[in-house]
Amino acid sequence: MLNAINPKKTKSWDKLSEHFSSVSKTSISELFQQDKNRFDKFSIRFEDILFDYSKNNITEATIKLFADLLKEIDLEGAKKEMFDGAPINRTENRAVLHVALRNRSNSPVILDSKDIMPEVNHVLGQMKEFTSKLHNEQLLGYSGKPISTIVNIGIGGSDLGPYMVTEALKPYTKKGIKAHFVSNVDGSHIHTTLDKIDPETSLFIIASKTFTTQETMTNAQSAKSWFLKYGKNEDVAKHFIAISTNKEAVEQFGIDSANMFEFWDWVGGRYSLWSSIGMSIACTIGFDNFEELLEGAHAMDMHFKNAPTEENIPTILAIIGIWYNNFFGTETQAILPYDQYMHRFAAYFQQGDMESNGKSVARNGEPVDYQTGPIIWGEPGTNGQHAFYQLIHQGTKIIPCDFLAPAQSQNPIGDHHEKLLANFFAQTEALMNGKNKETVLEELNKTNLSVEEIEEIAPFKVFEGNRPTNSLLFKKLTPHTLGSLIAMYEHKIFVQGVVWNIFSFDQWGVELGKQLAKEILPRLSGNDEVTDHDSSTNGLINAYKAFK
Ligand code: F6P
Repeated sequence: MLNAINPKKTKSWDKLSEHFSSVSKTSISELFQQDKNRFDKFSIRFEDILFDYSKNNITEATIKLFADLLKEIDLEGAKKEMFDGAPINRTENRAVLHVALRNRSNSPVILDSKDIMPEVNHVLGQMKEFTSKLHNEQLLGYSGKPISTIVNIGIGGSDLGPYMVTEALKPYTKKGIKAHFVSNVDGSHIHTTLDKIDPETSLFIIASKTFTTQETMTNAQSAKSWFLKYGKNEDVAKHFIAISTNKEAVEQFGIDSANMFEFWDWVGGRYSLWSSIGMSIACTIGFDNFEELLEGAHAMDMHFKNAPTEENIPTILAIIGIWYNNFFGTETQAILPYDQYMHRFAAYFQQGDMESNGKSVARNGEPVDYQTGPIIWGEPGTNGQHAFYQLIHQGTKIIPCDFLAPAQSQNPIGDHHEKLLANFFAQTEALMNGKNKETVLEELNKTNLSVEEIEEIAPFKVFEGNRPTNSLLFKKLTPHTLGSLIAMYEHKIFVQGVVWNIFSFDQWGVELGKQLAKEILPRLSGNDEVTDHDSSTNGLINAYKAFK
């Protein structure tokens, strides 16, 4: 296992700090004026993806200094450990091998002296068989009608990934198939879904790595009770399947282990869409397309594994993120897809990034003395432009943004797509260049406003600019490209976790709330006044009991 290195104690970090004081004085637009070839120097082409990172406060020296830092902390060694199945999820003593799930070259991946690829391929084979039966209308419900609706019941990684992907790849949906996703323990979520579906033609996919998650188990029980109003106990097997690592709990729930699709503890929840957790994806877009998604991710894995730092998209993304997070002191990172189908992409990476790198304890168990994971957020453009972009343009905070868009629309109606992309390009340009007072005055002088009015209004119309952006322009949002984009962000998160010297693959931070909710739950029934919490929690519980 790699040594824990505090990045701030490295020589490269000191050099980066010095470099920061000089580079931060030059604006991004000045960097463009100084170098006509800036776009060529700071963009990378990978298959059908163009990554342009030229609109950032960086120079070639920045990348070089970061490359030195990555050497100093041995990123290559850390990558090797991940790809080789070392237990890099140290606090749970597990390997982290989502890359094996999409290892399309099928080269052996040895874990505990055993090649795990035959098991991976076996489950993929089971998924293929199951989905082909579904799509050939051979999967029949209790009344003999073919299954045509799938309901994925899961939460976190067992929901966000499959939901995000099926939404992003909606145009690839198999004819006649409808997919629903239920995650929230709020009864309204399962209620509104059950209201829309027909028990005779619906399949519930209970997706939970642990098969103990309160929300998922509660929703699954409610779905089963609802189903039993129509079907019989012996019909459950035709309408419920499980995706889990916990065979015992699946059987206890009443799902035959023959209807269970396995995955393994070396797959983290937020990295599990590539496993049988992707069953709802394969059911919705077809197994061929699911394989294409895996192919795209594998291609990105190989790029990440082999490309040198200067040409490595996930590594450069990670570098830029660290540059702003730790040197410029930014707090958040926006992900802004200019593609309506990608409307859950930012939400997906909210879990991917924040559950991975939202940590404050270094690998040696000591508190970190620097910033770690940023707050990830975002919405599709152009909607966001009419909502929160005001703050990105003129607020007091710098928000580094990733813009993503396909060059080809899935729905080329009139000039919608040109307008969409014109907005993407305009936003990144506007964020960088801003608008100075001179230009504002020039524009205002052409209006009917008086000199006094112009003087008064001008300051509000000035845009400082110098707001950094990355642009990811890709040919079309195919399953292959989406697979690459997801893997790209996964590896960015990995690199950042290595630099920040934290464990990116556990999530102890979600446990305390779960534990307390279990303790509070029984106190919500009965008439006794609750007095043994703090006065706020007591007050809330007692008010709830009085209101209900
Ligand atoms: O509560 C966090 C978490 O453990 C996530 O990491 C995970 O994706 C989610 O819950 C769901 O867990 P499971 O698949 O075991 O139901």
